[in-house]
Amino acid sequence: MVPGTNELPVSPSPISISPLTVICQTVEELRQQLQQFREQNRRIGFVPTMGALHAGHLSLTARALSECDVVVCSIFVNPSQFNDPADFANYPVMQDQDLRLLQQAGCQLAFVPSVSEIYPNGYTPIDLDFAGLDTGMEGASRPGHFQGMATVVKRLFDIVEPDIAYFGEKDFQQLAIVRHMVRSLGLNIHIEGCPTLREADGLAMSSRNLLMSPELRKAAAAIPEALRQAGERIPHLSPAAVRELVIRFIEKDPRLQVQYFSLVDPHTLREVENWEGHSVVQGCIAVLTEGPRLIDNMCYSVKYTQLHP
Ligand code: PAF
Repeated sequence: MVPGTNELPVSPSPISISPLTVICQTVEELRQQLQQFREQNRRIGFVPTMGALHAGHLSLTARALSECDVVVCSIFVNPSQFNDPADFANYPVMQDQDLRLLQQAGCQLAFVPSVSEIYPNGYTPIDLDFAGLDTGMEGASRPGHFQGMATVVKRLFDIVEPDIAYFGEKDFQQLAIVRHMVRSLGLNIHIEGCPTLREADGLAMSSRNLLMSPELRKAAAAIPEALRQAGERIPHLSPAAVRELVIRFIEKDPRLQVQYFSLVDPHTLREVENWEGHSVVQGCIAVLTEGPRLIDNMCYSVKYTQLHP
């Protein structure tokens, strides 16, 4: 940061033409910055993140910048959504690099609050019925995760008051729960889901990918490959058989252990037992590795081809 200010220095690189990103550490600073935009009825876009930004995050920011007059990106590693203290302790933090990336992207406002700024009276979990969306998959594997996530997202929404908020489809269940929360609470915020960005070998981009050794990183490409192969078998094999195939393919590598692979209705997130009545299903997976826990998902359309008309 420029000493005595909350602005990043302009990069000396001749290709950088982006304006300064204003960095706000407190709710008060951010509200002051946003006031001018609100007075002019400007459209405010919001990209909530936990930092360690990668191209996936930057695609959300780019989308927000193309649709909004001003974009706020928050960087806050929310302790209340980590059920595993080791996962929280290991979560990659690289704030200087994140802020540089936001500036290069042309994001106008970065919000980097402390824990006490977000939870000034301590953590009080949101009291909201998630209509069963939180019980399976990540909810079953990470108790308290969605309550912590929804609590911080609601708090951030109250602070930023965005018109549009952008979330990645990689966290499919999170996106469904955020949409449900916005509907249930009648919040006047449009939620935009953005496609998962993938590495060249298909692995979904994630901040946690940084925590893998090069060998493990290579092995992890089995996850998107298994999801792709599942798509080729639907609806010719039963859901149970597709599940088995995916698990067997990934677990050929002893460093990868499938925690769950669920084929669910994309709206209710209920497990699909047979294909009838479903035109689209979502395959959602979590894999434990000797490094980070990885999640991914893929959308499948259930198309019956009539072999004997
Ligand atoms: O998806 C994430 O990075 C986090 O769950 C979010 C939405 C920023 C809330 O902490």
